[in-house]
Amino acid sequence: MNYEDIKKLLFKIDPETVHTTVEKLTGLATYCPFVSGFMTKQSLHEDDILVQELFGTTFRNPVGLAAGYDKDGKMAGFLPALGFGYIEVGTVTPLPQDGNPKPRLFRHPEDETLQNAMGFNNGGMVALEKRLEKITPNVIPIGINIGKNKLTTPENTIDDYKKLVSRLESYGDYLVVNISSPNTPGLRDLQSEEFIENLFKEIKPLTQKPIFLKIAPDLEIDTAVSLCKKAVESKADGIIATNTTNDYSLIDGVEHMGGLSGKVLTEKSGALFEEIAKELYKKTTLISVGGIDNGEEAYRRIKAGASLVQVYTALIYKGPALLKEINSTIAKNLEKDGFKNIKEAIGANR
Ligand SMILES: Cc1cc2nc3c(=O)[nH]c(=O)nc-3n(C[C@H](O)[C@H](O)[C@H](O)COP(=O)(O)O)c2cc1C
Repeated sequence: MNYEDIKKLLFKIDPETVHTTVEKLTGLATYCPFVSGFMTKQSLHEDDILVQELFGTTFRNPVGLAAGYDKDGKMAGFLPALGFGYIEVGTVTPLPQDGNPKPRLFRHPEDETLQNAMGFNNGGMVALEKRLEKITPNVIPIGINIGKNKLTTPENTIDDYKKLVSRLESYGDYLVVNISSPNTPGLRDLQSEEFIENLFKEIKPLTQKPIFLKIAPDLEIDTAVSLCKKAVESKADGIIATNTTNDYSLIDGVEHMGGLSGKVLTEKSGALFEEIAKELYKKTTLISVGGIDNGEEAYRRIKAGASLVQVYTALIYKGPALLKEINSTIAKNLEKDGFKNIKEAIGANR
C-alpha cells in the first residue's frame, strides 16, 4: 500500500485522533529495530555532500522536523528513522497544559494546508526532560522549542523561559524561543524589541547552547527584519522563520481561528525569509520553515541563506517519502551547480 492509499483512509478520521495514534505507534516502534531499520532504508538519503557542522554539531542533512509534531518528545526515539537531519521537539511549557478545546486541528486537502489552534497542549518540561534523558546521546541533533504557559502573567513571562532553559538545555543541541504562535493569547505581542532584548539578556547566561528566535510571518516585513536584527544584537544565535500564518485571506471559506501552514504559506514565508536573509545572512544562522514541500523549494531557501530547513505539513500530505525526495533533490542540485558541499550553497544567491 502506498502513502496515497494510506492517506485516503487516514483522512477519513479526525486529524488529532490520527496524530495521537501515530504518536503511540511510533512510540512502540522505537523498541522494534526491524521497523526503524526498514524505515531508515526507505527514507534516509545518505550523502556526504549534505553533511555540515553547525555550532559544533554535525547535521547529516539539512531537513528537520518543525516544532509541534512531537511536542512531548514521545516520538523522538523513532523519528531519526524517517530520514530527518535533526528534529525539534516542543513547544514545551514549564507546567503541563491541555491546550485549547477540541476540535482544534483541521485539514484543507485541496490546498494542502493545515489549520491548527492547538494552544501548546503538552505534558510540561519535567515530563519532556524524563523522555529526553532516555534517548541521550541523541542519534541526530535535537532542538527544544520553548514557550510560556497560557496562565503565566506578563510579569512572570521571562521567568517561564528561564525555567525552561535551565531545566532542558543539557538535552538539546539548540533551543528555540517561541513567541510567534497565534494560539496563546498575547504571545505574539511579545514580538517587540524591548521584550526580545530583555529576554535574551536573562536567558543567554543560563546556557552555552545556541538559542534561536522563531518569528511569525504576519509581521510587516520591516518590523520582522528589525526584530530579528534586535534579537541578533541581543545575542540570539539564529532565527527560525516562520511559524503559521493567521492571514485567513490566503484560503477560501476558512474559519478565523488558529494558524495556517503548508502550501498557502510557501510564498509568504519564503518572501519574509528572503528579506531576513538579505539583512542577516552571514551574521547569524538562519532556518527556513513554512510551506516547504519539495526539494526544489528547500534548495531555493538554502541558496537564499538558510543553513537548515524544516517541514511539518508536507509530511502529512506527502508522507515519509518526502524526506528522501527533498534530500536527494538538494544533493542533485548541489552537484549540478558545482558545489562540493552544502555549506558552499548556503546563501549562494545573496
Ligand atoms: C498542528 C501544528 C502544531 C504546531 N505546533 C507548533 C508549536 O508547538 N510550536 C511552534 O513553534 N510551531 C508549531 N507549529 C508550526 C510549525 O512548526 C511550522 O512553523 C509551520 O507549520 C510552518 O511549516 P509547514 O508549512 O511546513 O507546516 C505547528 C504547526 C502545526 C501544523
